[in-house]
Amino acid sequence: MKFFVDTAEIEAIRDLAATGLLDGVTTNPSLIAKSGRDFKEVTAEICGIVDGPVSAEVVALDHATMMKEAEVLRKIADNVCIKVPLTVDGLKTCKALSSEGTMVNVTLCFSANQALLAAKAGASFISPFVGRHDDNGFDGMDLIEDIRLIYDNYNFATEILVASVRHTTHVLQAAKIGADVMTAPPKVIHDLFKHVLTDKGIEGFMADWAKTGQSIL
Ligand code: G3P
Repeated sequence: MKFFVDTAEIEAIRDLAATGLLDGVTTNPSLIAKSGRDFKEVTAEICGIVDGPVSAEVVALDHATMMKEAEVLRKIADNVCIKVPLTVDGLKTCKALSSEGTMVNVTLCFSANQALLAAKAGASFISPFVGRHDDNGFDGMDLIEDIRLIYDNYNFATEILVASVRHTTHVLQAAKIGADVMTAPPKVIHDLFKHVLTDKGIEGFMADWAKTGQSIL
């Protein structure tokens, strides 16, 4: 399973990239606004930190302007992945860009039928928002299961990128279902490393090691 981080905060990206476990980055207009940075500048900086896909989202709502925005964004770096919303114009743009070999992430997916359309439009990634699904009384993981089944039925190459991840259980469930990628805020990724028994175990080993009076170096 690939791990993307869902942020436009440079320090958080650097910190996770240093673990060697970061496969990509996703941003959206809200995250860019939160960073307070210039969109193109921060995207270029992120693309220099990670080798994997960096999603940069168009903000136009019509196909022609989406294409113009995508043209600007994809020139930023080779690893820019154009993010488009799951609308008719978004999928037209997805089809056109993917036919030219540009990576596309189709975002704001809330149904398996929408995911089917995105795969037919040649999306590299489909982003179902599990947290927002849960917030609205649905089970986001049911959606991931349905998409996995449909994509496997037809051997679609589109990768399922589980988004709107709110906690480590979402990551575990997505991995059990066989989602290809998950994108999560930095805190959730850091939480994956933690276990109270790991901390307790280290504490015990350190105390016993100190009793030996030895050193490895
Ligand atoms: O990047 C899209 C998605 O991950 C947003 O998550 O927490 O705003 O629902 P959230």
